[in-house]
Amino acid sequence: METITKVQEMMERRKGLEGRVGFVPTMGALHQGHLSLIERSLKENDHTIVSIFVNPTQFLPGEDYERYPRRYEADRRICEVAGVELLFMPEVHEIYGVDEVGIKAPKVKGYILEGYFRPGHFDGVLQIVTKLFHIVRPDRAYFGKKDAQQLYLVQKMVRDLFWDIEIVPCEIVRDRDGLALSSRNLYLSPQERSQALLLSKSLKRAAKMVQEGILDAQTIKAQMEEILAPLEVEYVEIVDREFNRLDQVEIGNTIILVAAYSGGTRLIDNIWI
Ligand code: PAF
Repeated sequence: METITKVQEMMERRKGLEGRVGFVPTMGALHQGHLSLIERSLKENDHTIVSIFVNPTQFLPGEDYERYPRRYEADRRICEVAGVELLFMPEVHEIYGVDEVGIKAPKVKGYILEGYFRPGHFDGVLQIVTKLFHIVRPDRAYFGKKDAQQLYLVQKMVRDLFWDIEIVPCEIVRDRDGLALSSRNLYLSPQERSQALLLSKSLKRAAKMVQEGILDAQTIKAQMEEILAPLEVEYVEIVDREFNRLDQVEIGNTIILVAAYSGGTRLIDNIWI
């Protein structure tokens, strides 16, 4: 595996690649969730490029940019063992200059739910994804369904800008007890981790209600909120796959989402119905 830190070098290296290029953008602290994206890309493409870059512009002031886990050596080894061909790990000054052209998330879909509680977050996400797409020029890019709104907005950006990149949604990977894998789980104390299970528990209850034929969004959300009561909840929401709020669950076209704090750690989870 080759590790590249310079933008120009990455672009040159990409030019020499023939066949289909799969890309897995990450912020590092890699876990099984990331590995599942990498493995899928390795299976579906001639070349796989992974990026590791803790992107400052998607963190709001006061968020965890400084303490976000950085485990570069361990991550490098994980990528190498997995069979990644190129690892792109730029420094911040390689990626960002001053007084840059901005990228704006859509005014509605980029500023509800995650975007409401983290205003500007998706501007930063779409900015870095745009830059990385231009540097790596992938044929396919792999995103996890756990960041459902991010996945939707990246798909929308690619559609809106007539970009010839296939965005591949990948399933959420969970620990055996149901906790959705996230680099931020590293922040949780044992007690906070067991409280964090309430997110997946509430989603499981929602899925069971739907199975039983209860489709009313208010009824489902009320049940979920009861389960989530010990946590500080930011939102429980039921939307269609285009992120329009739903009053009734539509089988095959629904995402049920939750965001809540366990201790000081903000967690998100969702289920696709
Ligand atoms: O999902 C993430 O890890 C990040 O938001 C991404 C897509 C790598 C952009 O920084």
